[in-house]
Amino acid sequence: MNIGLIGSGGREHALCKKIHESKLVKKIFCLPGNAGTSQLATNIEVDILNFKKVLKIIKQYKINLVVVGPEEPLVKGIVDFLRKNKIAVFGPNKYASKLEGSKAFMKMICAQNQIPTAKFKICYKNTQVINFLKRSELPLVVKADGLAAGKGVTICKTKKQVIKTSSEIFKGKFKSSRTVVLEEFLKGEEASYFIIVDNNNFKFFGTAQDHKRVYENDKGPNTGGMGAYSPAPIVTKTLEKKIISKIIKPTLKALKTKKKSYNGFLYVGLMIKNDEPFLIEYNIRMGDPECQVILPRLKTDIVKVFKKATLNKLKSIKIKWKKQKCMTIVLCAKGYPGSYKKNLLINNIKKIKLSKSDFIYHAGTKIRKGVLRSNGGRVLNISSLGDSFFKIRKKIILNIKKLSLKNFFYRKDIGWKVIKNNANY
Ligand code: AMP
Ligand code: GLY
Repeated sequence: MNIGLIGSGGREHALCKKIHESKLVKKIFCLPGNAGTSQLATNIEVDILNFKKVLKIIKQYKINLVVVGPEEPLVKGIVDFLRKNKIAVFGPNKYASKLEGSKAFMKMICAQNQIPTAKFKICYKNTQVINFLKRSELPLVVKADGLAAGKGVTICKTKKQVIKTSSEIFKGKFKSSRTVVLEEFLKGEEASYFIIVDNNNFKFFGTAQDHKRVYENDKGPNTGGMGAYSPAPIVTKTLEKKIISKIIKPTLKALKTKKKSYNGFLYVGLMIKNDEPFLIEYNIRMGDPECQVILPRLKTDIVKVFKKATLNKLKSIKIKWKKQKCMTIVLCAKGYPGSYKKNLLINNIKKIKLSKSDFIYHAGTKIRKGVLRSNGGRVLNISSLGDSFFKIRKKIILNIKKLSLKNFFYRKDIGWKVIKNNANY
């Protein structure tokens, strides 16, 4: 069968590689893809928010199944549009995508179903913010309701900052919404739990921990993610049971009750406090770079899994995982997440000999006049599988050094929490 993969980041290169390994696949078309996917698939340049053009390409290339990587087309309803046009597609519908597309929607689902999450207030004007401040403690988390490319969350230490940040959102700083969600600040350790869901069932799809801050020791502004590792040792069997019973099951049931069942990957972003899980966010897709550490650990044919999910037959497939651990370090253009240069030369990649357990996933890359160049802030994801995070990280850093790239930077401390706690990790 022919697969259409929508997106162009490191997550999509990792998905493309896994899809490429499947025996069921004839051709892969990436819309638009990156320099990495072009080695395995046919890249087709298109605006992925122009659904009519996407549909035309799907028909033209006789694509049998579409897999959607990023959130924006999902939140804007690409799945509903393609299904209406009789195209098989893996991903959640527009209504269910509000779990990520609207933080207020997600919080209301939590409130209506007793799902543990930070206390919150949805605000539409400054007076509501001021009133909430009177009965809350600092710090307070200010969130833009809609999608904000990872920039919509501010942890505010002063009342003044809360009011300023909220009023910027009310004035339209983020195009996606002028609604503010104020949240109690939760202290604990973050972890991400992934599932794959169809209308009847769901299956475990890995755990991971991301590093959102740009600099080592978790300093500096938030980014899309500077590195990740899987599995997340903090997610014990006991904790997993609580995540499923207190968070996942009530959420999926709530959507089903509204006749809007969830179908696709679901990323459950958690804060773990005294062995109790609190929902911080839902993402309606795989994480980036979490996908790049989860997929190398997957043993089962991913296309078989997608097929089962789209047919609502996930129950009948056993998804198998490798015991090995995986880590990725994100190589970024200097200046990211602020302003950075594009078009930086990446010249050594082919000269480096990678072992079977090493992977370089492309994120922001493009081939221009036959030469590989950067095309974004997060440029390459250097990943590796192994038995200890400590050794894996050493190997990754060695591979990064071999690339001897100028004008790039990366965090050398990915996995510090697990490596510090246990040298064998
Ligand atoms: P989000 O976009 O909701 O994932 O938030 C981005 C990051 O902000 C999260 O990964 C957390 O590190 C932090 N964060 C969000 N909400 C809270 C909260 N209620 N308490 C503490 N930290 C939070
Ligand atoms: N790495 C965080 C995310 O994909 O949302």
